[in-house]
Amino acid sequence: MDVDTGVDDACALLLAALHPALDLRAVTCVGGNTDAAQVTRNTLAVLQIAGRDDVPVAMGAERPLLEEPVHARHVHGEDGMGDLGWAATDRAPDRRHAVELLRDVLLDSTDDPVTLVPTAPMTNIALLLRTYPEAAQGISRIVFMGGAARHGNATASAEFNVFHDPEATAIVLDAAAGLGIPVTMYGLDVFYGPAVTREQAASLAAVGGHGPAQLAGELVAFQCDRFGSDSATIGDAGAVCAVIDPDGIRTTPLPVRVELAGRWSRGQTIVDPRDWSGDLDHDPHGRSRAVVDVALEVDAQRYADLWLRTVGGS
Ligand code: BDR
Ligand code: CA
Repeated sequence: MDVDTGVDDACALLLAALHPALDLRAVTCVGGNTDAAQVTRNTLAVLQIAGRDDVPVAMGAERPLLEEPVHARHVHGEDGMGDLGWAATDRAPDRRHAVELLRDVLLDSTDDPVTLVPTAPMTNIALLLRTYPEAAQGISRIVFMGGAARHGNATASAEFNVFHDPEATAIVLDAAAGLGIPVTMYGLDVFYGPAVTREQAASLAAVGGHGPAQLAGELVAFQCDRFGSDSATIGDAGAVCAVIDPDGIRTTPLPVRVELAGRWSRGQTIVDPRDWSGDLDHDPHGRSRAVVDVALEVDAQRYADLWLRTVGGS
């Protein structure tokens, strides 16, 4: 996984760390919701609470490829984890840069390629594919949280992860298409679907013991409070659900381009829904473009239940 932990990245990490069907190989960290050093501390803390100090964690890019970082502390709190007191850890990160850790893990996996799950701006992944394209042999699929076929959240048209580093997303989508790596986009069209109620969060938190269930419950409760709502999305954790249980989403292969220039639309993922007889990999003018499996529908209850069961330990 590549994360910017982040309240909902923490929810995603708990699921990936605890679900028995997954073999979490490494977690790399990037600036996004908060700065990269804090993201790394948060990630180490979450994995420690989940009893997964065995998973290597490395810090990566502090800023997007082109622009200044725009963090989202107004959504995720000053420490990126809701300022709930869970962000401390005694564990140090791997000495390698995130891109080097990714390269090493992927080159080790060419006989049994792994799924890459970025739930953050894709700066690290773009740097990886540009610097070590041979590492792509170790990737079977990229399932990323980001983008939107309909509307955005950072702006009216752009989703936060893509908005934060549009160039990186464009590089990853185009490189993956060129290298033949299938990509699933778990974007805003499905992101808000799987949700957990305040009561369910309270039951998780009541498990106590400073364990994963308590953390999960407190994170959801924080989101309910922040948005004044009776339920909160599991957010990035849905992208991990899509790896565990791909039948819970309906995807359609569609051409996706990233807007890099628009005055009001920079960072928009332009998903082309038009149906014509030409090949999807080329636009009507013959220019090549990336085709992505775009998630347009989700079985929200199924994913919420999967997350609740796993982080609740049942
Ligand atoms: C995405 O941006 C961040 O706020 C969340 O962690 C998620 O990855 C949603 O747009
Ligand atoms: Ca995230």
